[in-house]
Amino acid sequence: MSSSEGNAKKTSVTLHVVSSLDGFIAKKDNSVSWLDSPGGVYEAGVSISEEEIATFVKTIDCYVLGSRTYEHAVELGWPYGDTPVVVVTGREWPSAKKSVEFYSGDLKTLVDVKLAPRYRNIWLVGGAMLCQRFLELGLVDEIRLTIAPVLLGEGLRLFGGSLTEERWNLKNVVAYKNGFVELSYSAPTA
Ligand SMILES: NC(=O)c1ccc[n+]([C@@H]2O[C@H](COP(=O)([O-])OP(=O)(O)OC[C@H]3O[C@@H](n4cnc5c(N)ncnc54)[C@H](OP(=O)(O)O)[C@@H]3O)[C@@H](O)[C@H]2O)c1
Repeated sequence: MSSSEGNAKKTSVTLHVVSSLDGFIAKKDNSVSWLDSPGGVYEAGVSISEEEIATFVKTIDCYVLGSRTYEHAVELGWPYGDTPVVVVTGREWPSAKKSVEFYSGDLKTLVDVKLAPRYRNIWLVGGAMLCQRFLELGLVDEIRLTIAPVLLGEGLRLFGGSLTEERWNLKNVVAYKNGFVELSYSAPTA
């Protein structure tokens, strides 16, 4: 386990993104209507209530975002409530919500020194560039990949770049009534 080694308090980093069927996580114009549910289409799937989502979200101790994802989240209306958020950036930013802090520097130090002593359940929620760096550095313990039932044709590639071959362990699959599928994988054990 990457971040938790040597830590009395066991910390886990979960990378969560939603991808189209053809492997894109954002459209060129940044519009998000492709993420909307098409309605109940897959009868064998499960559905999840707002209450269940709220209960689940409460288990997340901290979100980590790249600065472009942060800008988009601010633009769309803040989805993270008052949960602590760390934005990775090399830029200076004007003041933000109280729950937001900006971080510039080494990502392993971010996880092991800054986050692990404070948080147990850390969610890395994009974008592609930051997720790629976390994976390259071996800082991800779990991948939760949600596949949306849509082809986009073009956009921002999920994990486009220089990852090397690595076999992850499938832990769970949930198919939802709305046609979305969530795949959960744990990191390869060394
Ligand atoms: N479908 C999904 O689940 C999902 C999830 C999240 C985001 N998105 C979409 O993805 C897009 C953004 O993704 P993106 O790949 O373009 O950008 P991103 O990963 O959100 O942010 C990239 C920025 O993060 C900072 N950064 C990354 N690595 C760094 C490092 N090692 N050290 C310091 N700073 C670092 C840099 O910020 P500075 O330039 O400020 O230095 C860099 O420009 C948006 O359209 C968003 O809506 C989709």
